[in-house]
Amino acid sequence: MTATPIVIDCDPGIDDAIALLTAFVSTELDIRAITPVCGNQPLERTVRNALTVCELAGRCDIPVHPGCFRPLFREPIHGQFHGRGGLGNAELPEPTKRAERRSAVDFLIEALEAAATGSRLTICCLGPMTNLAVALRMKPAIAAGIERVVMMGGAYREPGNRSLTSEFNVLADPHAAGIVFSSGVPIVALGLDVTHRVMLQPAHVARFGDMSGPIAKTIFDLMAFWDRNDVRRYGSRGGPLHDPLVIAYLLAPQLFRCERARVFVEHESELCMGQTVADWFGKTGGEANVEIATEVDAAVLELILGRLARYDAHVRA
Ligand code: BDR
Ligand code: CA
Repeated sequence: MTATPIVIDCDPGIDDAIALLTAFVSTELDIRAITPVCGNQPLERTVRNALTVCELAGRCDIPVHPGCFRPLFREPIHGQFHGRGGLGNAELPEPTKRAERRSAVDFLIEALEAAATGSRLTICCLGPMTNLAVALRMKPAIAAGIERVVMMGGAYREPGNRSLTSEFNVLADPHAAGIVFSSGVPIVALGLDVTHRVMLQPAHVARFGDMSGPIAKTIFDLMAFWDRNDVRRYGSRGGPLHDPLVIAYLLAPQLFRCERARVFVEHESELCMGQTVADWFGKTGGEANVEIATEVDAAVLELILGRLARYDAHVRA
């Protein structure tokens, strides 16, 4: 089986870091690059965090291309649950690996131009979608090189997490999200409707406390910090595993049920800024442009934890 070529566009972030670690040990995936963006943390920090996670896992072979410093029009907002530096209390190695000189936008344009006549790339969006939106604006023809976008983004029937109506990644750059949604590329959206159903609970986290090796220890530290302790909202202790679901979808799409709809992003009203409004029944007369995940099988959590358990007793390369 040939591995699926992917680019991971992200803003690490605890759950981004867990998603990267899940992808690194999944041989079904061929990670061509990581393209950090301003999101959970300012760009300088998301780049550094991506580099340090690569270093920790011995994946310095993957190029890291720094992305956009700011959202398209709005002031930056940053994540609230990732700790001061974005990776909780985890102690990660000082990266010796350096970021590439070529920006994420230049990389995406060149890689997608090449892919348009070869094997198309899957773009995994785990943060605000500024990088991809700018690349699409500069060279719309690169859409032909995209196999599909699989994003963690939006809240379709579920209320928002960063505001009453809006999910963080879309709210952080609603204009970029609007460009991606209306680009005509195939899109799978994993929003809060499914990520709030996959709770990483203290018992799951404890498993990594019993493992040995520096990577398992870091996974334990990242996960332990992620507990929201908000039973009223989530129905249990723990934290929703947002970004790793994108990797899980690539590995086992049969664990998700998707419904097609046309998606609009609100960027006029301050109250509803970043809301993803889905036309489920063709009311607007437009074609559906997104596969929205509306149900997820609980087995997805064991899939992710099983991949991460491959780091047990793992010694850094
Ligand atoms: C998204 O927001 C970020 O804080 C997480 O990393 C995830 O990508 C969830 O709304
Ligand atoms: Ca993220």
